[in-house]
Amino acid sequence: MNRILITSALPYANGNIHLGHLAGAYLPADIYARFMRLMGEEVLYICASDEHGVAINISAENENTTPKQIIDKYHKANLEAFAKFGMSFDFYSRTSNKMHHANALDFFETLLKKGYLVEKTTEQFYDKQASMFLPDRYVEGICPECGYDKARGDQCDKCGAYYDQINLKNPVSVVSNTTPIVRETTHWYLRLSIFQEFLEAYIDSCSEAWKDNVIQQAKGWLKMGLEDRAITRDLTWGVSIENAKGIDKDKAKGKVLYVWFDAVLGYITATMEWAKITSEKGIGINKNDWEKWWKDENTKHIAFIGKDNIVFHSIMLPAIEMAYGNFVMPHNIPANEFLNLEGQKFSKSRNWSIDLQDFIADFNTTQAVDSLRYTLGTILPENKDADFTWKDFQSKTNNELAAILGNFINRTLQFAKKNMDGKVPPLPEKYAKLQDILNDIVQCYSVYKKEKSVEEIKNECETALSTEISKNDFALFWSFVSGINKIIESYKKFRIKEAIAETMNLARAANKYFNDEEPWKTIKTDNIDACNKTIYLCCQAVYTLSILFAPIIPYTSYKIQDFFGANTIRGSANNGLKTINYIKDLSNFKLASGTEIIKPIILFSQIEDKIIEEQISKLG
Ligand code: 2FM
Ligand code: ZN
Repeated sequence: MNRILITSALPYANGNIHLGHLAGAYLPADIYARFMRLMGEEVLYICASDEHGVAINISAENENTTPKQIIDKYHKANLEAFAKFGMSFDFYSRTSNKMHHANALDFFETLLKKGYLVEKTTEQFYDKQASMFLPDRYVEGICPECGYDKARGDQCDKCGAYYDQINLKNPVSVVSNTTPIVRETTHWYLRLSIFQEFLEAYIDSCSEAWKDNVIQQAKGWLKMGLEDRAITRDLTWGVSIENAKGIDKDKAKGKVLYVWFDAVLGYITATMEWAKITSEKGIGINKNDWEKWWKDENTKHIAFIGKDNIVFHSIMLPAIEMAYGNFVMPHNIPANEFLNLEGQKFSKSRNWSIDLQDFIADFNTTQAVDSLRYTLGTILPENKDADFTWKDFQSKTNNELAAILGNFINRTLQFAKKNMDGKVPPLPEKYAKLQDILNDIVQCYSVYKKEKSVEEIKNECETALSTEISKNDFALFWSFVSGINKIIESYKKFRIKEAIAETMNLARAANKYFNDEEPWKTIKTDNIDACNKTIYLCCQAVYTLSILFAPIIPYTSYKIQDFFGANTIRGSANNGLKTINYIKDLSNFKLASGTEIIKPIILFSQIEDKIIEEQISKLG
């Protein structure tokens, strides 16, 4: 049994989501979640706004407001934008919620009690002018590892190093632009070094399944030797430890948990909240059900993140989980590289960015959202940085979504509308065995896929069936059977980009079938049986494509299924409940002859140059 817990990095609630974020940790997770639901797996997809940390304080100062107003504003804005983008979270929470503060504090107290935390008084940067310590982003300087001169107090954006701030060279306070002094303060440190061997074994055991970039980074940390890390900060905004059991109240005054310590726990709290709230809906979820998603060895936690978050998910989260006890550790961390925009890094300050909110405001159609999902999906930065360009968005829409997928669907349905009374035609008696033949091919593929090459299976199948099925019909069936298998394999390996390319290849194969069969000729040459069979199979292919494309372009999938008045299957949020395996079910012809085709509309209209030029001119 597979219970798949999917999380996406909790986005900071201090700014709008942009396309780089989507391509990093959100779109791939959503596509994967939807596909796995369609495979009949139990899937729970959890996310939340990350509402603590110095980043929020700084945004509040910049916008001349309070952290609370900042998080309320951006939590709402991002939640709405995600919904319009078709994200299928089963639950989306906030780390400022009471339940999260209580849960994070419980982890702190438990780790303290178990001896995994140690209290230390050390030197930290202090801004005399602003009368405050300078945790994390409040101080900038030269990275001790790579020399980057805009490195932050907790992490270097350039090389990913994660160090004690006191090691920054030439530190400057972000608050007053002065050089800070060094002053003593007390904090609680996670004794990471205790977990060195355990984490080495854990990372080794994941070496084959995880992406190379994740393994290399994690091993890099382990090679340097893990050091104790402060998990508290001198701040007022965050999860306060002032009332934590087991520590001196005076020393805990003005201290909160380090944002990364509480953020990774946000996944767990959000699941607890989901169970509590959903248990009240009477759909069979119990308030303790969060435990089966976090404490049962059959659960596979897949943590989708960007590459700058690797250390926190591959080292810190497993260490915290191990220290607390009885939690499942990440099963996979498919971290993506970065997305650039028109050849340059995303930068809000240089206006070199596309916020999801702006995209939605400018385009505001479900077609455009699906075009964006598809375009981003085809260029996901899975193995190296990728580049989003408006020209590519135009070309993927016009030349692929419209010219291949849309065209196939439109020509099939229009043909049936015009020539077949607007219905899925009958499958003539002499072709009745096609369903069995399709099942034979499916069977043959699954039996031999481990021992023979795809080409060998194809040749053997084709030869064996040569008297039973025409060349074109076989080519169509083969493309779909082998294609669906490849798609499943790609998703299982988190090669989402490859799965999308393969899915579009099936639309290409269907178009080729339509061309090769020439139904516009067979209908005129007394070969109505052949014509009916062609359109019957094309309608089945339309339906199949609507399911396979559902994870990628869910709005379009809904429209296609609606043409047949069918139930809409999009792999949507389902509270972790199991459904049937819709993907496996595709080997059955799902549309009955006589099914009415309701008003087919053009799914993707062409995007004109003017629209693209307008968008390009907005940058910079
Ligand atoms: O990089 C970020 O946007 C962080 N807010 C991600 C947090 S992921 C997890 F730990 F919650
Ligand atoms: Zn660096």
